[in-house]
Amino acid sequence: MAEGTRHDAWQAGDSYDLYMGRWSRQIAPPFLDWLDPAEGLDWLEVGCGTGALSAAILARRNPTSLMSIDPSEGFLAKARANVPDKRVEFLAGDAQALAVESGSKDMVVSALVLNFVPGKQKALAEMRRVARPGATIGFYVWDYPGGGVEFMRAFWTAATALDPAAIDLTEDRRFPFCKMD
Ligand SMILES: C[S@@+](CC[C@H](N)C(=O)[O-])C[C@H]1O[C@@H](n2cnc3c(N)ncnc32)[C@H](O)[C@@H]1O
Repeated sequence: MAEGTRHDAWQAGDSYDLYMGRWSRQIAPPFLDWLDPAEGLDWLEVGCGTGALSAAILARRNPTSLMSIDPSEGFLAKARANVPDKRVEFLAGDAQALAVESGSKDMVVSALVLNFVPGKQKALAEMRRVARPGATIGFYVWDYPGGGVEFMRAFWTAATALDPAAIDLTEDRRFPFCKMD
């Protein structure tokens, strides 16, 4: 298993929703407001997890179509239960090799995913490939080196005080690319 994914388990949708999903649901609407896309477009969400951003797209942007992909069957099952909307298709897939027609999407978005993908450039190239000319591609990750998520930071501050060797498990060490620039 790749170094960057060693500690990440993406199967237990219920646990994820309690742990991070509640924060995902808060960040998705401001991201959409910031992008400010038109209504009625063809969307792809890469790494949809339990469906936080998909739900916000459906509620706020009235898409013509929404394809939401994730490699985790456990998360996809939870996403289908969380977001029972006929406009969205939740499908198994990998950001690095999207089973999506080239030039077929107006909006290609991804939430809190890219730091977990070993081939980020491949994933970004795939997002560009499936985008139509003039489409928008947008993603976000937590700014881990800049402070990250407060509750995670508090956990790791306590953990590394007890066991200094745990420092290499902290998100700012594992995901140094997650900076504003
Ligand atoms: C922190 S969760 C974010 C989930 C969701 N987007 C959200 O905002 O709550 C990271 C997600 O990335 C997905 N993921 C990991 N590797 C991936 C890959 N190679 N391609 C697509 N998604 C991936 C995981 O299955 C998981 O759902």
